[in-house]
Amino acid sequence: MSEREAHHPIDPQFLTRWSPRAFTGEPLDSPTLHSFLEAARWAPSGYNAQPWRFVYALAGTPAWTPLFETLSSTNQSWAHRASALVLVVSQQRWLPPGKSVLEPNHTHAFDSGAAWAFLALQASIAGWHAHSIGGFDRERARAALAIPEDYSPQVVIALGRRGDPSVLPDALKAREQPNSRLPLSALAAEGSFPFD
Ligand SMILES: Cc1cc2nc3c(=O)[nH]c(=O)nc-3n(C[C@H](O)[C@H](O)[C@H](O)COP(=O)(O)O)c2cc1C
Repeated sequence: MSEREAHHPIDPQFLTRWSPRAFTGEPLDSPTLHSFLEAARWAPSGYNAQPWRFVYALAGTPAWTPLFETLSSTNQSWAHRASALVLVVSQQRWLPPGKSVLEPNHTHAFDSGAAWAFLALQASIAGWHAHSIGGFDRERARAALAIPEDYSPQVVIALGRRGDPSVLPDALKAREQPNSRLPLSALAAEGSFPFD
């Protein structure tokens, strides 16, 4: 497995978290899942509007199939060994204090991304892995899980314990290792925008 290297000092948890596809399929109990969701709950959001909502399904329960079937076939080919799936939806409008009509929340997706990151870090700290999936049928998820129009499906998170890569389809085996990142010099600059 390739080693991740930070160029500036950071807590090792930021490097330890990654998104495997090979899972063991072992059961994830409800208290453990709720500890991951609890971490997501404490994410920051604009106006503290907390636009994220989570609809989850534990493997082997009746809730699993309707959510699993929204995934693309490629994502189904590995996510069927996950222990839980969590659909993240974000509310596109919010009710400002003192107002009686909902107004657009321009940071709803950004805020829900922070919630996903908190969930993933908590899972990693607990010895589990979280893998976000953008490749799913959002309208099918909306219909199957009764998601109201005001809520926007963002990702499905697959949660599991890391398994042996040999269980994966050949095309995914070679990718089953932590990847790297652009150098910070390509991402951050002082004063004005110098990037391509
Ligand atoms: C919003 C989002 C959507 C993603 N969609 C998919 C997906 O549909 N299928 C997949 O296998 N991985 C998906 N990923 C995983 C990314 O490829 C992965 O997070 C990225 O390569 C960084 O790797 P790491 O999470 O291991 O650090 C997604 C990740 C995010 C954050």
